[in-house]
Amino acid sequence: MSRLIGQVLDVSRLESGRVEWHESLLDMREVIEDTAASTSQLFRERNVRLDRALPTRVPKVRADLDRIVQVVVNLLSNAVKFIEPGRGRVEIALAEEGGFLRVDVRDNGPGVSSEHQEMIFEKFRQAGDPLTGKAEGTGLGLYISRRIIEHSGGRLWVSSRPGEGACFSFTLPLVSEATLDKAA
Ligand SMILES: Nc1ncnc2c1ncn2[C@@H]1O[C@H](COP(=O)(O)OP(=O)(O)O)[C@@H](O)[C@H]1O
Ligand SMILES: [Mg+2]
Repeated sequence: MSRLIGQVLDVSRLESGRVEWHESLLDMREVIEDTAASTSQLFRERNVRLDRALPTRVPKVRADLDRIVQVVVNLLSNAVKFIEPGRGRVEIALAEEGGFLRVDVRDNGPGVSSEHQEMIFEKFRQAGDPLTGKAEGTGLGLYISRRIIEHSGGRLWVSSRPGEGACFSFTLPLVSEATLDKAA
């Protein structure tokens, strides 16, 4: 199935509420390690370095593993896609913050201008990159990713200053001790 068709199907399932969510307790450190390993070829091809800043122990979150992997893959592949090959650096960081886990995917690519920072989360919207003209893709990845994260109780946003790269961040709510006790 083509990537476009797959993404269009994802959009229609998400919008009509026909997604089956398979939630479980996730160790986000493990999820990030595994996703980084499975996208390493992409990084090697473009000669982009991927650094990880992951605490050794993080509390669990409850979410759909495949969907969260889909979000992380999308953010990592966007970062490599828009970066200048050879000089690229991407960092993925994980931190606990006020009842949430927060994931930051930071790159040293062209960044996203402030007038495009909301638009890129809309369906089929791409800001394009005047430097590289790279508009290949569907413009659906961030729209889908934001819907997945919001369904999971978190937020997804970008912060960027032109010329200083982009940082895409998302949060996921920590599972309370009480809920964990009940599950045990
Ligand atoms: N890391 C990034 N650096 C610069 N621009 C980005 C980055 N990630 C996303 N964008 C911008 O957001 C647009 C939408 O991204 P996305 O929804 O994933 O669609 P696609 O990757 O198919 O273009 C991209 O076309 C690009 O203009
Ligand atoms: Mg994309």
